[in-house]
Amino acid sequence: MDPSSLDARRALLRADMAPGGLRRPWRSIGVRHSWIGRMLQNHLDQVFERLQRHGLKLKPTKCKLFQREVTFLGHVVDWDGVRPDPAEEENPASVESVIGKSLRILLGSFLSPQLDPGHRPDPEPTGDMSGFAVLRTGKKMPLIGLGTWKSQPGQVKQAVQWALKAGYRHIDCASIYGNEEEIGAALREELGPNKTLRREDLFITSKLWNTKHHPEDVEPALQQSLGNLGLDYLDLYLIHWPYAFRRGDVTFPRSEDGALLYDDTHYRETWAAMESLVHKGLVRDIGLSNFNSHQISDICAMATVQPSVLQVEAHPYLSQDHLLSQCVQRGLVMTAYSPLGSADRAWKAPDEPVLLQEPSIRDLSLKYNKSPAQVLLRWQTQRGVVAIPKSVTESRIQENIQVFDFCLQPEEMAQITALNRGWRYIVPMVEVEGKRVPRDAGHPLYPFNED
Ligand SMILES: NC(=O)c1ccc[n+]([C@@H]2O[C@H](COP(=O)([O-])OP(=O)(O)OC[C@H]3O[C@@H](n4cnc5c(N)ncnc54)[C@H](OP(=O)(O)O)[C@@H]3O)[C@@H](O)[C@H]2O)c1
Repeated sequence: MDPSSLDARRALLRADMAPGGLRRPWRSIGVRHSWIGRMLQNHLDQVFERLQRHGLKLKPTKCKLFQREVTFLGHVVDWDGVRPDPAEEENPASVESVIGKSLRILLGSFLSPQLDPGHRPDPEPTGDMSGFAVLRTGKKMPLIGLGTWKSQPGQVKQAVQWALKAGYRHIDCASIYGNEEEIGAALREELGPNKTLRREDLFITSKLWNTKHHPEDVEPALQQSLGNLGLDYLDLYLIHWPYAFRRGDVTFPRSEDGALLYDDTHYRETWAAMESLVHKGLVRDIGLSNFNSHQISDICAMATVQPSVLQVEAHPYLSQDHLLSQCVQRGLVMTAYSPLGSADRAWKAPDEPVLLQEPSIRDLSLKYNKSPAQVLLRWQTQRGVVAIPKSVTESRIQENIQVFDFCLQPEEMAQITALNRGWRYIVPMVEVEGKRVPRDAGHPLYPFNED
């Protein structure tokens, strides 16, 4: 067979896509001989060019960087995820564009100075303590953000100030957390003329609550968050959950018998209203939270402004490999919530697995002289996933962003991913006849019956 023929290239592609194919280190599949490998090599060359333009010295580190990126890719991009549809396989250009997209998403991490082995961080935080993901709009989203759910008024202002001092530039908020006003107070103290931070230095996310899905309610809900936060735009606004509750100001509306009251506004109608927020300049990017891959596809199929981010629960016990590959394929960046196992949840069960006590994570933390939390967060950022650990403790806030000065080996990344047991810490529960059951599982838009 002529090796340059389409059939020969397809055969190579199939071999590369076979289980164990592209998951192997690039060197062993012979980048030079593989058609898909050559395409990736071309993209990597572009990555190197961009690195060079950003003033990174490539000569001494190129080899290492190359290996790291490849390794990085092997883990970040589940290659099932970049497998083109059978119809698309007829069109090599579409394969190329999918791979290009994956690389663009990862580019932000490559450009992080902390990933350059020759780089020594400044002793004082400079504000660029973390790497970043690049959203489809070209905006940079820091790979570590401060989570604020359960951070009480009276604690959260101080937590945000400690975080900003420690180098965080990304804060994850939501109107349902009930603390945006106090987060706003922290921002007002730290931002502005004659202060160390400018608005454009920060990446602020908030989320539309379930009672505000009706298209007429979307902009007023955003305005309320903006007012509380003291901002005139958000970097990212997410639909918090795919299903809607009854409209109004009662956050968990219930009937007299205690049953939660839903509303039949479909998330597609809500999405159209979210798009108009982008057109009005009130939000830079829009995205989804707690949507499954079918629901994401549904939005992508109708959207005129595509979602940039999916925020979902993710950690080694719920690695979300499949969903991550779906996100990469569709150009969404994934954000991992509850990355440390959300141990301060009110409904924590006494017999649930405790992520921070996982023995293999503890072993890695000893090996790298890091904490278990840092290993968990490094695994996320190293696979290109943004993580938003919550803490109101100064030392932990500082610790959680110190994850850019070590690198897990490919087999360690794989070992952590293999801890997956499909375990969800965050499932809204209710008590029915003395038993705790998932609250919304009967709703047609309930996301967790599939990936
Ligand atoms: N979109 C959604 O539906 C959704 C759902 C859940 C969460 N989220 C977002 O994701 C964020 C993070 O998730 P989460 O709050 O559920 O849980 P998490 O970040 O996994 O865990 C928070 C718990 O870990 C502790 N902790 C923090 N750093 C630690 C460290 N270095 N060592 C040991 N313990 C540490 C915190 O304690 P202290 O605070 O006492 O230090 C707190 O008890 C939320 O705050 C929220 O912003 C979004």
